[in-house]
Amino acid sequence: MNVMQPIDRIRGGVHENERHESGHKHVSGTAEYIDDIPEPAGTLHGYLGLSQRAHADILSIDFDAVSASEGVIGILTADDIPGENDISPAHKHDDPVFATGKVEFYGQPMFAVIATSREAARRAAVKVEVEYRDLPHVTDVLEAAAANYPLVIDPLKLERGDIEAGFAKAKNIVEGEMRIGGQDHFYLESQISFAIPGEDDEVLVYSSTQHPSETQHMVATVLGVPSNAVTVNVRRMGGGFGGKETQANIFAAVAALAAKKYRCAVKVRPDRDDDMSATGKRHDFHVDYKVGFDDEGRIEAVDAVFAARCGFSADLSGPVTDRALFHADNCYFYPNVRLRSKPLKTNTVSNTAFRGFGGPQGMVGGERMIEDVAYAVGKDPLEIRKLNFYGGEGRNLTPYHQTVEDNIIGRIIEELETSADYAARRKSVIAFNRENHIIKRGIALTPVKFGISFTKTEYNQAGALVHVYTDGSIHLNHGGTEMGQGLYTKVAQVVADEFQVDLDRIKVTATTTGKVPNTSATAASSGSDLNGMAAADAAQQIKARLVRFAAERWKVAEADVAFEPNTVRIGADRLAFGEFIKLAYGARIQLSAAGFYKTPKIHWNRSEGRGRPFFYYAYGASCSEVSVDTLTGEYQVDRTDILHDVGRSLNPALDLGQVEGAFVQGMGWLTTEELWWDAKGRLRTHAPSTYKIPLASDRPRVFNVRLADWSVNREETIRRSKAVGEPPFMLGISVLEALSMAAASVAEYRIPPRIDAPATPERVLMAIEQLRAAARQGAVAQG
Ligand code: MTE
Ligand code: HPA
Ligand code: MOS
Repeated sequence: MNVMQPIDRIRGGVHENERHESGHKHVSGTAEYIDDIPEPAGTLHGYLGLSQRAHADILSIDFDAVSASEGVIGILTADDIPGENDISPAHKHDDPVFATGKVEFYGQPMFAVIATSREAARRAAVKVEVEYRDLPHVTDVLEAAAANYPLVIDPLKLERGDIEAGFAKAKNIVEGEMRIGGQDHFYLESQISFAIPGEDDEVLVYSSTQHPSETQHMVATVLGVPSNAVTVNVRRMGGGFGGKETQANIFAAVAALAAKKYRCAVKVRPDRDDDMSATGKRHDFHVDYKVGFDDEGRIEAVDAVFAARCGFSADLSGPVTDRALFHADNCYFYPNVRLRSKPLKTNTVSNTAFRGFGGPQGMVGGERMIEDVAYAVGKDPLEIRKLNFYGGEGRNLTPYHQTVEDNIIGRIIEELETSADYAARRKSVIAFNRENHIIKRGIALTPVKFGISFTKTEYNQAGALVHVYTDGSIHLNHGGTEMGQGLYTKVAQVVADEFQVDLDRIKVTATTTGKVPNTSATAASSGSDLNGMAAADAAQQIKARLVRFAAERWKVAEADVAFEPNTVRIGADRLAFGEFIKLAYGARIQLSAAGFYKTPKIHWNRSEGRGRPFFYYAYGASCSEVSVDTLTGEYQVDRTDILHDVGRSLNPALDLGQVEGAFVQGMGWLTTEELWWDAKGRLRTHAPSTYKIPLASDRPRVFNVRLADWSVNREETIRRSKAVGEPPFMLGISVLEALSMAAASVAEYRIPPRIDAPATPERVLMAIEQLRAAARQGAVAQG
């Protein structure tokens, strides 16, 4: 028997800085995206025809010029749908594939052109002649509220304590409002689907989707076939960020519809402008708030309404606006609180999931209240934050009645304050501003607490499939999708760790509905929590069989069988992993298993606004310093320090990348990314020429990012790690508040600038002008 010397450690186990499994392919152009899949002969291309009105009856459509256009094979409308013309993820029947009778936003798909090339289809689609009868439209949140537009879904109310008594007791009350802008996902790979028809009712769809199971069900619904006829595959996305949780479905449905109708492979991919116009984005919000507090700045009561521009249909607006409320408290205890959502219908594209899923908007509202309190009592906002942190007797209950049990924000803030030298730098910023009249600086240190779990309890489950082949190589498949975040790498590390084999023995194969069924979207940052556990379960089942086999064959106790680095130790014997697997196969041991996991402890009653929606919280903090040119409003981030909690990291290198990327994306949302609709309800910022995402040159000049390496998840998550995808997005709030401080300096920090988000250079400039005017008036009044 082959006796091996043990090596002390496997390569690429958990907690290691392993590179992304496709990193080298991303940078060398060899990672295969859907548009790279070799096309079968005769592949056709689809292109959506979009509405040119925000709200109108469709009186007639003339397709003559479209049909006559070069390369056109056919046109699909709602009449070509054998199943249902509906892809509403909320099951509200309000999301047609193709609009019929009327359109409800500018850019709404009405039909698809199928042609021999994508360019031919795209050119043909715009040749349509549509006769519309305009209806009144509303694109803005406040206009929608004023016009009594309907809500797309029941609102949520979170309530605790006695709000009236709280305000009655409060010595000070401040009221305010804030607008918080939306955001386009700007994934590098736009939406795309590629469908290949099979025999009978079957179809195979390659879709750039975060939610293959839902895409499968939507395609089946539209085709009028059972789900078992539809297989959805996705190897990777070139970014999703929530934009492919539901928004991929229409492209998959249209590709599948055309593939079945024309019995050809069909690909559908919009260009960037149409992707931006026709697919949903982050919800913009209007927050109306009232906060009561004592002379120290300790909050007594909070009452706030979070109104969101949901667009024409429900989509995910219910859970998104719910999550806004779940994060409006951020790290702060509100003794008496009432938070209400207002998910308003508008004649704009239906807004959707985007990193943080409403949480960031809620948190920005909460942080604005803190800022207001700080200005009212004349203190450093960080002092007000610390004063109001959860912690201490009777101060740990959230507005949704979940007790915060894992609070580490105190330590995070303390360490970051020290490492960023916050106090001294704030002093020198104030000194600098006294001396300098054109350039003004600001500094802010802001915390994050983010609840982990889907608030829809049933989504918190996952499956995985593990095969061990007789050469000792391992095939891993799970329900999660890879969008750049490194999920495949992390789950493979878990399986490597379970079997104690090097990571390169494991191949993660494309996510497919045929291998792991009924999966949840890879979303809510829970990909590795859920799929990591499911994969560990599958590996453990196989290991248990192997241990039983070894104990019987070698006549040793099961406790004397151990998986050691690339070997299996059985009593005094050591076998190479592959050798051992061959023997197990010979003994007819099943070397494959389906694993499963469901998150324990969570429950949520929406109608009562009570429960434990989150398994645990992830924490973090950031400190940003900015310089603003007060003549133009232009600014730069001079330095950002971050300390972020990922529990015991599964892969610190990947987690650091997530933290850095999320911060920059959050900063972009709050600074330069502005969506603008004209009076016709047409999105005019639909390309990088008019929509400004952060560039490498916009990153903080000094960028110190660290993980809280001492943090261990107190809950039994996969290897005690914490989710990382979304929480660090909200670290970008420190930039918004630093800009606010720089602006406030022109009026001696006496007036809160209350800059709406995004704080574009224009808004910063306007705030500065207004503050200067107010300061002059104040001086006149006093003088
Ligand atoms: N990172 C990259 N590179 N690309 C993405 O599309 N999406 C984010 C985050 N990080 C995203 C990303 C969002 S919105 C979520 S919910 C999580 O990744 C999803 O993956 P996870 O649950 O595996 O962290
Ligand atoms: N986060 C992200 N996506 C979701 C959620 C959530 O909480 N709920 C449903 N889809
Ligand atoms: Mo992320 S918004 O939950 O896809």
